[in-house]
Amino acid sequence: MTQPTDIRRALALRLLDGYCCQGGAGKGYHDAGFEVTGVDKDPQTRYPLAFHQGDAIEFIREFGAGFDFIHVSPPCQHDSDCQRIQGNTHPDLIAPTRNALNATGRPWTMENVRGAAAKLQSPVVLCGTMFGLKTYRHRYFETGGGFTLTQPEHPAHTAPQAKMGRPVPAGYFGQYVGNFSGVQQARNILEVPWMNRDGIRECVPPAYTRYIGRVAQAHLRPALGVTA
Ligand SMILES: C[S@@+](CC[C@H](N)C(=O)[O-])C[C@H]1O[C@@H](n2cnc3c(N)ncnc32)[C@H](O)[C@@H]1O
Repeated sequence: MTQPTDIRRALALRLLDGYCCQGGAGKGYHDAGFEVTGVDKDPQTRYPLAFHQGDAIEFIREFGAGFDFIHVSPPCQHDSDCQRIQGNTHPDLIAPTRNALNATGRPWTMENVRGAAAKLQSPVVLCGTMFGLKTYRHRYFETGGGFTLTQPEHPAHTAPQAKMGRPVPAGYFGQYVGNFSGVQQARNILEVPWMNRDGIRECVPPAYTRYIGRVAQAHLRPALGVTA
């Protein structure tokens, strides 16, 4: 039997995880209490939540308004340092994705890497040190649709960083990019035990979106007239 909308809302708010890959971001929102649906153009057999294969912008335009909150991570290859060095070109999906998000009328956040930060509007940066993780992995988050994030205090980077993709000496923080070594270590550090190397190099650590998800729950629930 289909439950009335307000009863389903009291159980779980619905979140669309666009460009979901293996679900680092999605897992954090799930932990924060959202019912998460991921969308990716490629099959994602490791995605740990409900999944739909398809184009993210088309999906947002058709179904986005039916979700309580939307997160997107447009591919960062267009902007990442290692891709630029290799001369690879990828479409820039940031502006068309923002247009689709704004058309839904729903609150949203759009995540990306440092190389794309200039294309994001007033982004907040999150760092592993804010959540007790032994990685810096900066990720930038633009918000819209009436949702805002306050920039958390950014702890000083006191541990040295291993070189990109290289084994991580004791006492160092790793940079798990490219064809990095130490998949099991990266799973432990980033808290993504279900992922392989392909997912880990792309992922938002779930701790980041667990934090955003809790802020989003506090923003959404009073407006929807439901309690935690
Ligand atoms: C940076 S990864 C996302 C990482 C994810 N947020 C996480 O935390 O694990 C970007 C993903 O976008 C997907 N992608 C690229 N173009 C797409 C499109 N047009 N529609 C849907 N997914 C797309 C890629 O297959 C890739 O999995």
